[in-house]
Parts: sequence; C-alpha cells; structure tokens
Amino acid sequence: MKNLLPLLLMIALATGLLALAADTASEKLILKSKMGNVTFLHAKHAEREKGDCKVCHDKLWPQSATAPLGWAAGMHKPAEAKKTSCGACHHPKGPAFSSVGNCTNSKCHVKG
Ligand code: HEC
Ligand code: HEC
Repeated sequence: MKNLLPLLLMIALATGLLALAADTASEKLILKSKMGNVTFLHAKHAEREKGDCKVCHDKLWPQSATAPLGWAAGMHKPAEAKKTSCGACHHPKGPAFSSVGNCTNSKCHVKG
C-alpha cells in the first residue's frame, strides 16, 4: 500500500495538468471564409482523440489561433493528398469526411 502512494500522486498530478491544459484551449475556432465560415470544434476534436493533444500539436499546428492553418491555400485537395493540416484526417478513406461533396452541407461552410 505504501509503494502505491507515489504512483497515485503522479496520476493525480498528470490528470490535473491535463485538465488544466484542456481548459486553456478554446471550445471552438471560427475559420473565416468567403464560402461561409467554418466552425472548428476544438474541444470535440480533442475529445475524439481522447485528449491526446500530440495528434495535432505541434505536428500539424502550433498551439496558436493566429498561425496559418495551411489548409485554404491551394484549396483542400493538395492538403488531402499530402495528408497535411486538416487533410491529415479529412481525406478520402481517412478517419474523417473529405472535402469533396461536403462544402456546404452544414458539415463545414455555413453562410450567414
Ligand atoms: C484535431 C486536431 C487538434 C487537437 C487534437 C488539439 N488541437 Fe489545439 N488546435 C488545433 C487547431 C487547428 C488550432 C488552430 C491552429 C491555427 O490557427 O494555426 C488549435 C489551437 C490551439 C490553441 C490556441 C488557440 C486558443 O484557443 O487559444 C491552443 C492553446 C490549443 N490548440 C491547445 C490544445 C490542447 C491543450 C489540446 C489537447 C487537449 C489540443 N489543442 C488538441 C487542433 C487541435
Ligand atoms: C486528428 C484527426 C483530425 C484532424 C487533424 C481534423 N479533424 Fe475534423 N474531424 C475528425 C473526426 C474524426 C471527425 C468526426 C468524424 C466525421 O464526421 O467524419 C471530425 C469532424 C469535423 C467536423 C464536423 C463537426 C464536428 O467536429 O463534429 C468539422 C467541421 C471538422 N472536422 C473540421 C475540421 C477542420 C477545419 C480541421 C482543420 C483545422 C480538422 N477538422 C482537422 C478528425 C480530425
């Protein structure tokens, strides 16, 4: 029982830090677009990756709301082909829907 204490303390600390980190990230990011703005549900995306921030940070993006996304440039096909930016997951046969056929069907671009 005595040997368990340091372990329990470490778990408590780790989960505490995780909760703190999750709190500092915004719920969602609005990506402005002439096609209609895209709402990126940040919290939902992190939740689906089981809170593993490393899936995206800093591999795909820094933890910044102002750094370039590298997605809109050249439209989405190049990113999907190279599996960079949002295209790392959002590509044909990937874990998430691809851009083709999903522009404005309320999955991504919403006008007004
Ligand atoms: C599915 C990918 C993904 C995951 C997982 C993810 N993020 Fe992010 N995060 C983003 C994107 C995209 C941006 C915006 C990047 C840009 O504008 O260049 C961002 C921006 C941020 C920002 C800056 C914006 C703000 O709201 O202040 C912080 C802080 C952040 N993320 C923290 C986290 C933390 C902590 C986790 C894990 C709990 C996490 N992120 C998981 C994709 C992700
Ligand atoms: C780590 C993988 C991953 C990355 C990177 C990622 N997504 Fe997603 N995204 C998903 C998954 C998984 C879903 C839910 C499955 C589906 O709907 O196909 C999803 C769903 C969405 C949805 C539907 C609303 C929701 O969240 O449920 C939108 C909009 C979206 N993503 C936009 C983006 C944008 C924009 C980016 C880049 C800034 C991005 N995603 C990057 C995995 C990812």
